[in-house]
Amino acid sequence: MLAKESAFKQLVFSGVQPTGNLHLGNYLGAIKRFVELQDRFDCVYCVVDMHAITVWQEPTELKKTIREVTAAFIACGIDPKKHIVFNQSQVAEHAELAWVFNCVARLGWLNRMTQFKEKAGKDRENASVGLYAYPTLMAADILVYRATHVPVGEDQKQHLELSRDIAQKFNNDFGESIRSHGFGDAFFPLPEPLITGEATRVMSLRDGTKKMSKSDPSDQSRINLTDDADTIALKVRRAKTDPEPLPSEEKGLRTRPEADNLVGIYAALADATRAGVLKEYGNAQFSTFKSALTDLAVAKLGPIGAEMKRLMNDPAAIDAILADGSARARKLAGGTMNSVKDIVGFVRS
Ligand code: TYM
Repeated sequence: MLAKESAFKQLVFSGVQPTGNLHLGNYLGAIKRFVELQDRFDCVYCVVDMHAITVWQEPTELKKTIREVTAAFIACGIDPKKHIVFNQSQVAEHAELAWVFNCVARLGWLNRMTQFKEKAGKDRENASVGLYAYPTLMAADILVYRATHVPVGEDQKQHLELSRDIAQKFNNDFGESIRSHGFGDAFFPLPEPLITGEATRVMSLRDGTKKMSKSDPSDQSRINLTDDADTIALKVRRAKTDPEPLPSEEKGLRTRPEADNLVGIYAALADATRAGVLKEYGNAQFSTFKSALTDLAVAKLGPIGAEMKRLMNDPAAIDAILADGSARARKLAGGTMNSVKDIVGFVRS
């Protein structure tokens, strides 16, 4: 029998890749919620640079983007003193535990990962081995802190399920050793995905059936955290809609992906619900609603973008935050890794 999940100290972990521009989906689906969780949990937030290099990254650009994601964390309101903010490559234990997990996870499990299939596309033979093994590194990110809660957008759900499977199999395979080393019945918690709110899957502004994504070639498809007010206004004005006015009830959004997306974005930005937004804007024309959405988006994102730019002007200060966070993360991760080595049967001095 596994120990109850509550037997583990509650800890939040999540990560964001430093690839391309951060957008409204990253903010509403993840970073805004990272901020909200700070009051209730100890949190570890990671710029996952080792995940980024599973596809080619220009080295000078990568450095800049690592700092930019860090700046976004801070500008959005994450407190790097109370919590831990760091970049993955400075804590070698992530890669170390990932190797152990490569030996726990089964090929069949990884073969089911839809994100690999999407990212590798038709030319699968030419994808990096890292892209294929990406989910085992992700499990290691979380479990090297024995984190219990993981806030993510909907697109990461399958990876989180895999992390739980890996934790469970490790606990089962090494059950006897775990017990004999005094860790009770389970060494790793089964991390719980936190996929909540009105914007767990923000869609492209150009196509309400496609996810808003950093890799979409059209910049008009997304609102970037660093877009200025005019750019935000233009993108919202150009966002695809249908000819009907907004419905007055939520069920009227079901067959209208673009309307659903814009109402969901408004709700998440306003800390409201879709139903609440439709109470105010039901039967309104899109022109009216879009102008309200622009005002709200500019009011919420403007200060974040400005603060990010200010922070980016002092890269040494950002690097100091990452150095401090990495040192604290390393202490936690090092403790877990020593225990894992004992459990697995490695000799260590
Ligand atoms: P990444 O960098 O693609 O995205 C960062 C976070 O943003 C969320 N997200 C979205 N949410 C709503 N709507 C969207 N359109 C949207 N696009 C992105 C993602 O779900 C994610 O929460 N594999 C992860 C990074 C990672 C990680 C981890 C996360 C590495 N290790 C451990 C949690 C725990 C990724 O590629 O996220």
